[in-house]
Amino acid sequence: MSEVLLERPSEGVALLRLNRPEQLNALNAALRKLLAERFAELTADETVRAIVLTGNEKAFAAGADLKEMVKLSSVDHLLRRSHTLWRSIAQCPKPIIAAINGYALGGGMELAMHCDIIVAGESAQLGQPEIRVGLMPGAGGTQRLTRAAGKFKTMKMVLTGKPVSAREAYEMGVVSEVVADAEVVPSALKMAQTIAGMPPISVALTKEAVLAGQDASLETGLLLERRAFEVLFATEDSKEGMQAFIEKRKPSYRGR
Ligand code: CAA
Repeated sequence: MSEVLLERPSEGVALLRLNRPEQLNALNAALRKLLAERFAELTADETVRAIVLTGNEKAFAAGADLKEMVKLSSVDHLLRRSHTLWRSIAQCPKPIIAAINGYALGGGMELAMHCDIIVAGESAQLGQPEIRVGLMPGAGGTQRLTRAAGKFKTMKMVLTGKPVSAREAYEMGVVSEVVADAEVVPSALKMAQTIAGMPPISVALTKEAVLAGQDASLETGLLLERRAFEVLFATEDSKEGMQAFIEKRKPSYRGR
């Protein structure tokens, strides 16, 4: 069976499941390549409006595959150009919801932080333990975690390697919502369905403004937002949305 399973649980929603359960979904090269390909396909598929990414009840992903990595040299790493695989996820214009049960460690937590919304189960554990094996976060952990949680909480996590609970991660600003373990995937799917019902151009420009603004000055971020806001007035969906509100009816969005 494939190490990345794709399901289409409802209209507009794609569900990706990491499927290497015997290795706690450790991210080996083959799985990462497959995941990047799936994201490229979902990006190109106009019928997909929101994506949920999950693992299984024991692990979202326990990090990069250490059994594979122990054999690699610096040059092997350089030649692998694995950042190009991560880019397929980071540059996906559609909203991605990580649905985390169990372990999200190292590259697993970094994978979750590539997503836009994180729903975690009460028993989930999130962490950047790479330092314990003589490494450090290598897929954005030092940067994305700092942007989400700030310097001091990040330093504690990346320097001690100690994981935090879903509740602690929520308080740090790294998790969007904590739910009962059994509710993780259903909650994420429900949220994805809500987003899939929104006008897609609004969704894409909103996601883009939030992400692009994170790396810009406030002034530049506000300018990006303003331009995107103005562009939306050219869409049929914005006219439909406002008109439907005025006429007290449900809007019908066409993605135009
Ligand atoms: N790589 C390879 N295999 C892994 C793995 C990993 N990251 N995490 C777990 N596994 C494997 C185990 O080796 C074991 O396989 P075998 O049965 O063949 O021995 C199987 O998954 C089950 O794991 P455990 O028996 O260890 O399960 P546990 O419940 O006792 O412990 C755990 C769970 C605490 C998550 C523990 O497995 C663990 O500490 N894993 C490593 C976590 C880690 O260090 N992640 C960071 C990796 S480096 C990285 O991610 C770099 C980066 O930034 C990109």
